[in-house]
Amino acid sequence: MNHIKGKVTKLLVDYFGDDFRRITHALDVMKHAEIIMKNTMGCDYEVLIASTLLHDIGIKRSEELLGYNNGKTQEEYGPPVAEMLLAGINLDPEKIRKVCEIIGNHHSPSRFEYVELKVLKEADMIVNRAEGN
Ligand SMILES: [Fe+2]
Repeated sequence: MNHIKGKVTKLLVDYFGDDFRRITHALDVMKHAEIIMKNTMGCDYEVLIASTLLHDIGIKRSEELLGYNNGKTQEEYGPPVAEMLLAGINLDPEKIRKVCEIIGNHHSPSRFEYVELKVLKEADMIVNRAEGN
């Protein structure tokens, strides 16, 4: 598995810094996605782990640039940040592209037939509900 989980968790923590709420949310979504994945055929582990951990990564830039964030701005600002972060680890460029597409589509009707996108949306929904959102 080449330690994808540790590597991307480090990227996440370094990027969000002391924003523990966002870090915890991403870790929770990853954990739920791993459970859902067990009953899902054809899921790429690396793509799923990177997508779930980084799915809301656009929030920070959106808030810095616009002073707010929403589903649309997360989808817009997330992929370039994810691409930049993932360039620092040894991950297949094709998988990075897929992760970026997933992050750019996780708050709107799916444009991609990716099982990892489906699992992310389900896990995010479960965690958001548990957080009272
Ligand atoms: Fe989320």
